[in-house]
Amino acid sequence: MAIKFELLKESKECKARLGKLYTPHGVIETPIFMPVGTRATVKAMTPEEVKELGAQIILSNTYHLYLKPGHKLVEEAGGLHKFMNWDGPILTDSGGFQVFSLGDLRKITEEGVEFRSHIDGSKHFISPEKSIEIQNSLGSDIMMCFDECTPYPATYEYAKQSMERTSRWAKRCKDYHKNWDKQGLFGIVQGGMYKDLREQSAKDIVELDFPGYAIGGLSVGEPKDLMCEMLDFTTPLLPKNKPRYHMGVGTPDYLFESVIRGIDMADCVLPTRIARNGTVLTSQGKLVIRNAKYTKDFSKLDPECDCYACTNYSRAYIRHLFNVDEILGARLATIHNLYFLIKLMENIRQAIKEDRLLEYKDEFYKKYGYND
Ligand code: GUN
Ligand code: ZN
Repeated sequence: MAIKFELLKESKECKARLGKLYTPHGVIETPIFMPVGTRATVKAMTPEEVKELGAQIILSNTYHLYLKPGHKLVEEAGGLHKFMNWDGPILTDSGGFQVFSLGDLRKITEEGVEFRSHIDGSKHFISPEKSIEIQNSLGSDIMMCFDECTPYPATYEYAKQSMERTSRWAKRCKDYHKNWDKQGLFGIVQGGMYKDLREQSAKDIVELDFPGYAIGGLSVGEPKDLMCEMLDFTTPLLPKNKPRYHMGVGTPDYLFESVIRGIDMADCVLPTRIARNGTVLTSQGKLVIRNAKYTKDFSKLDPECDCYACTNYSRAYIRHLFNVDEILGARLATIHNLYFLIKLMENIRQAIKEDRLLEYKDEFYKKYGYND
């Protein structure tokens, strides 16, 4: 088996856990935040820089790499690790989420999803088997089942059919996947915002016995309270001795809420995406660096941060870079935002170890603010 999870500790005050996830390219301490490198690059960063920031695993995308440069080309290069020069663990999303986000450009059948490329309009088809084939070519340490991320809001009937299809597709993914000793495959729980559907989905997926489980279809526009309620309900349905991955979450508040409810892994494009627009996460909340009030602010982005950007540059300088469209601005903001979340998760792990996660969360929110 490519993937092994070791549960090291369960918090005394909430459902948070500490663990170690063993993969063919290294061991990951959980709970973990995974930076996103959609197109075989964490935008604006070299892999050495990503590693230097403390990232232990990165995420990449089946859909994008299938379209460009093509999974066969990546395979010919020796796999994704070699192609992009990242020798740590990689998780690939199955394409389910990305294909379903295409709206009018796609058509779902029992067999799979027919879609038109967002790049050139060309026609393609991805089935559960095709998604596994692509992820096999990429050679990721952790692959994801091809699922449908049920949109929000969705009717009960739609959410039910979509969840049942996701269960059938998970079985097809499992049957098609062969090299379990080189690549793990995680199941994904769906079911929209309906508890009985979540329960059925968890039952179906857990029955297939994957080395890890994701909770999908959350953080898709529903209120935060509802997301928390669904997490509260769903995580206890998953086996304790397997890692649990909350897909698509990466704001500090959502990371806290997820970890407290027993989540071990999370990913989000948010920190890198907002960095390129000049928004940085700080211990005092978000900061829009283009703002005129930073023109002569020679302090660092975050007074409490010791990342490369904060150690060497001022808000005034980074604001200047953004104002004149210099790419170093995007690079420094990305370095800072990734470091901020990686450090946050490190602090969260330490707090779990010392049974003071709830206290740390309060402390964090008091400075950061409660909005996001
Ligand atoms: N990323 C965020 N949410 C989801 C989801 O529900 N499914 C998949 N495959 N990826 C996601
Ligand atoms: Zn910093």
